Order: sequence, then structure tokens, then C-alpha cells
Amino acid sequence: MPGLLTDRAAVVTGGSSGNGRAIATRFAEEGADVVVADVQADPREGGDPTHEIIESETDRSATFVECDVTDRASLDAAVDAADDFGGIDVMVNNAGILGPVAEIGEIDYEGYRQLMDVNLDGVYFGAQAAARRMKERGEGGSIVNMSSVAGIVGYPEITPYSAAKGGVRLLTYALAGELGQYDIRVNVIHPGVIETAMTTEDMPMIGTQEGEAIRETLPIQRYGTPEDVANAAVFLASDLASYVTAESILVDGGMVNTA
Ligand SMILES: NC(=O)c1ccc[n+]([C@@H]2O[C@H](COP(=O)([O-])OP(=O)(O)OC[C@H]3O[C@@H](n4cnc5c(N)ncnc54)[C@H](O)[C@@H]3O)[C@@H](O)[C@H]2O)c1
Repeated sequence: MPGLLTDRAAVVTGGSSGNGRAIATRFAEEGADVVVADVQADPREGGDPTHEIIESETDRSATFVECDVTDRASLDAAVDAADDFGGIDVMVNNAGILGPVAEIGEIDYEGYRQLMDVNLDGVYFGAQAAARRMKERGEGGSIVNMSSVAGIVGYPEITPYSAAKGGVRLLTYALAGELGQYDIRVNVIHPGVIETAMTTEDMPMIGTQEGEAIRETLPIQRYGTPEDVANAAVFLASDLASYVTAESILVDGGMVNTA
């Protein structure tokens, strides 16, 4: 049976670990060839590199491109790598870091700048690189950007993260307005608490008292999995979403819209 993304070529930034790894893998399961673009091939959570898993466990092709999303040339190289798979159809601007967790007075310029460079500029220039190539190809496309519940609600002590993620939401809407005429759709995903190295190591929440308190308030009383996020990305990348653009999808177990 054909998959939802049969014969599409996708680039996933931050595709080595966590949400990006699940997105890359789910895309391949649905028939896409995948460029995994990341600063490191090894998954933060351990295991074999994503591109190797795709090649050994699916009938699709995958390649790893060393890419730092703060470097525009390496974003272009990641998009170029999709030419080996017929040219980019789907771009997922997923790479992100948590950055500084502190009150505003304690956050230094370098920490703030790095967060913005990765989480906001990295998405902007990733979208730019993809949009240029998609327009040249003239076959439309789908750009999926990764925000967060912190791009909708302001959370104390992660102000740079929230500022960047809110920016990702609005740049998505603006770009969707610009690119719809080329049949390029642009959408954004807002995950809640998802079990990845970000929530087990960078800001340990999973299994902690604080994390448990949050989990119990969720209508769906579990943490999210990277596969939950990946399934939303599959939908947005596929023709099932052919009339969906400039849209935000919460994948948060009901966290934001319930009290
Ligand atoms: N885990 C959560 O609860 C959660 C919630 C909301 C949003 N998100 C977002 O999901 C995305 C993925 O996060 P995750 O939880 O999978 O984190 P993760 O740390 O598990 O994975 C992030 C990946 O991005 C890569 N990366 C980091 N900086 C990079 C750079 N400059 N260039 C290229 N790659 C880079 C890392 O090497 C890693 O492979 C991020 O944008 C994050 O903000 C995560």
C-alpha cells in the first residue's frame, strides 16, 4: 500500500535525536527519502544514527548531512542533498535548543544570542533555503516549523525560548501568506512536554516531582512521545493537509487550551 509520503524527499533539521529522529523515521515509513541534517549524527538519547536506522529498517534512502542551522551555507547544503532524492518536497525546521533557564537579569547576551540564532534564525533561514529551491522546482511543497507550547503561552525563566518560539509561529503565518501562490504550504507544530533529552537532561521534568505535577493536570495524563509529534508532521507534510496552511497544531495532550 502506498504511504502518505511516497516518493517525496524531505529534509529534517535536528533529525538525529528526539522529535526530529521520530519525524525522519515516520516520514521514511510513509515512503519518503530523508536528509537528516544535524550538528551530530549520534542521537542524544543513544542508539544508531537515524539515517542508518532508516536504511536498515525501511525500503527508503536516507543520508546524514552535517548541518549547523546557524550557518546558512550548511542549510543550503542540506537542501541541495535532497537533489539526490529528486529534489526537496518537504522541509522540517525542527532543530532547537532549550538555552538559558534563568530570570532575565541572569541571562547573558551570548546565551540569548545563541538561542535566537538556533531557534529563530535557524528556522527562518531553513525556510528560506527550502522556499527558494521549492519555487525553482515549481512543484509546490510543505514547510513544517517546530515551535512549542512556549510559543503560545509565556513561561517564566525561559523568556528567550518563548520569544523565539512565538517568533516561529508568526513567521510561519507570514510565510504561508507569501508562498501559498506557489502551492507551498507552511505550518507550525507546538509540542507540550515530550519525552526527549530536552526534558530528561536539559530541563529534567520527566519523572520529577515538578513534571509529575504537570502531567497530572493534562487531560491526556501522560507525557508526549516523539512519535506523537511525528504523526502531526506526517499529516502536515502529506496531501491529507493539502488545504491546510498558516496553521498551528498543538500536540500537548490538551495542556494549553484547558485550565
Ligand atoms: N521535548 C519537548 O518537550 C519539546 C517541547 C516543545 C518543543 N520542542 C522542540 O522540538 C524540537 C526538537 O527538540 P527535542 O526535544 O527533540 O530535542 P533534542 O535535544 O532531543 O534534539 C534536538 C536535535 O537538534 C540538534 N541540534 C541542536 N542544535 C543544532 C544546530 N545548531 N543545528 C542543527 N542541529 C542542531 C541536536 O544535535 C539534536 O539532535 C526543538 O525545536 C524543541 O524546541 C521540544
